[in-house]
Amino acid sequence: MEDNKNTSPIGFFDSGVGGLSVLARFRNLLPNENIIYFGDTVHLPYGNKSKEELIGYAKNILDFMQSKGVKAVVIACNTSSAQAYDTIKDLYSFKIYPIIQTAAKAIAVNNYKRIGVFATEATVKSGKYTEELKKYNTNIEVKELASKNWVSIVEKTSKNLAEDTAHIKDEISEMLEFKPDKIILGCTHYPYLMNEFVKYAPKELFLDPAEIFVKYVKHDLDVNHSLNTSNEISYEEFYVSSNPKEFVENAKIFYEVKTLPEIVTMP
Ligand code: DGL
Repeated sequence: MEDNKNTSPIGFFDSGVGGLSVLARFRNLLPNENIIYFGDTVHLPYGNKSKEELIGYAKNILDFMQSKGVKAVVIACNTSSAQAYDTIKDLYSFKIYPIIQTAAKAIAVNNYKRIGVFATEATVKSGKYTEELKKYNTNIEVKELASKNWVSIVEKTSKNLAEDTAHIKDEISEMLEFKPDKIILGCTHYPYLMNEFVKYAPKELFLDPAEIFVKYVKHDLDVNHSLNTSNEISYEEFYVSSNPKEFVENAKIFYEVKTLPEIVTMP
């Protein structure tokens, strides 16, 4: 039976390690919460998958989260929020927090006139950042650009690292022509390229939606009396759909994963 301290875990999921960047920011605010993290490494990367595929993956992961008795799920992946959230949002009894829809709402109320977005191909294709920003600020102008190789630069899997890194300059230049008030880094990995971005534009121009997102999730759990109020030390469980050792290794950029994740095979 559910106790009144809300000790049930919060689920986080992403295509792989990227969502750990969101978890890291969440942990800074809410160290007391119990966590179930799922990295869908067998389907990595999500950024080039179809809508149908992404909906299927999200459903399977949310079924798994349900079996773990979660009180809420954080979609820590921009691509899955963009392509799957609208379809799956009412299928479960627990609350689901999508990064794009949540962060866009908070950003839109700041009366910016022009917003740039860098994201994966699938996220840009969905136009979800534009749609959500315009929902709360009809006059806002948005330019979304897909940055194909940035995930692989961060994960060091790029086959042409020097070339891909040099190309960042052109991508930032193209965005700067739009004269954005702010540029949303609409993919879990992109804040980790800040050292490159600041060579071409001031740091203050860039927005990390995960920072805004986790603040909202904390606020919402709080107003719904869902925060874990127990004094027990919190736990974290990690699951992947393949390659647990590689996951722990790649995770180091974002978060320290202390235990080898268990492999969960999805239908
Ligand atoms: N985590 C994904 C996102 O935020 C990027 C990585 C991927 O393409 O799988 O969009």
